[in-house]
Amino acid sequence: MKIDFANLKYQHELYKDEIESAMLKVARNCNFIMGEEVKEFEDNLCKFTGAKNAVTCSSGTDALLLAMMALDIKPGDEIITTPFTFIATAETIALLGAKPVFVDIDEKTYNIDVSKIEEKITDKTKVIMPVSLYGQPADLEALQQLKIKHSKLKIIIDGAQSFGATYKGKAEVHYTDIYTTSFFPAKPLGCYGDGGAVLTNNDELAEKMRMLRVHGQNKRYHHKYIGMGGRMDTIQCAVVNVKLKHYEKDLAKRQEVAEKYSKVLSSKLEVGSEELKEKKKTSNFQLETSNLILPTVKSDRTSAWAQYSIRVKNRDKLQLMLKEAGIPTAVHYPMPLHLQECFEYLGYKEGNFPIAEKVSSEIMSLPMNPYLTDKEIEYIATQL
Ligand SMILES: Cc1ncc(COP(=O)(O)O)c(C=O)c1O
Repeated sequence: MKIDFANLKYQHELYKDEIESAMLKVARNCNFIMGEEVKEFEDNLCKFTGAKNAVTCSSGTDALLLAMMALDIKPGDEIITTPFTFIATAETIALLGAKPVFVDIDEKTYNIDVSKIEEKITDKTKVIMPVSLYGQPADLEALQQLKIKHSKLKIIIDGAQSFGATYKGKAEVHYTDIYTTSFFPAKPLGCYGDGGAVLTNNDELAEKMRMLRVHGQNKRYHHKYIGMGGRMDTIQCAVVNVKLKHYEKDLAKRQEVAEKYSKVLSSKLEVGSEELKEKKKTSNFQLETSNLILPTVKSDRTSAWAQYSIRVKNRDKLQLMLKEAGIPTAVHYPMPLHLQECFEYLGYKEGNFPIAEKVSSEIMSLPMNPYLTDKEIEYIATQL
């Protein structure tokens, strides 16, 4: 059997007629920049999430930049975030001259451990930036409590992996000053190139980010702020607008796939433990699956399941064996950010964030897309 990791080809086949005609319309109208599909998509993002404002932009990375620029982040400011994330989260903080201040993660959800944030707050702290890793929101109400206690603090959620996730039934935008997301093709809601968005219920911030996205311009060739060229192409908005129509259904399927993975894998683990007991009687054989840890999503939130990531002790060997069995895997992420060469200047060292370090040495993502069949899931679990 040969399994596809994200199965974008199948998805294109499924929505081909609608997507290709939407792309063709843009090509024929030649409204490549800020065409009507951009506004249409932004309106639909608001409808989907209940957000007051959605501003599309050129990527999830630029969405983070726009959000921080809107909050006037300057050199010397400190932003508290997680070391267990994609580089863009902290890279953008550093690009603006601010300092990423890391806090270790929760061992079950892999999101920032909110109970460890307060001790890191100083008078330079401007923003707390949780990341909804693999699609699961962080402890957003606990973060809001911190914000109430430290009234100058703002929250930016890096939701590059979590569009469509909910916390107590509501989209994450309702728990933050700004929510950013990415429409990179492999994300749960992906376009056909780069794309992203910032969502906010704050009209002033939205207006500012709309200007920042076009070189800080408030009127043609009049520039109120130092901004950037950060627009999302009309053609990308047209593509993802089609996909958004089907997204509720796709999200439900991702949820089903995740549930099936967990069910099948845990039943096999139980079988494994029995075998282990037997084998332990006769030799010092150790059943390696006894070291497998499945993902946990807290009961008050839903995940967009950008990844289905498990923890294993023998990752390299396992990845190789699965590859030979036609099962692609990936590691998100093999090295926490505090140990990356580019952040050497921050002065962190190994041992500073033990949970992030441990999880990054064990984590492994299995194929995840709405189209995985029961047979494929069973096959993957059996091989594992
Ligand atoms: C957590 C996180 N933040 C930011 C980004 C950046 O998004 P983009 O690739 O659209 O720039 C990503 C994308 O992989 C991400 O996973």
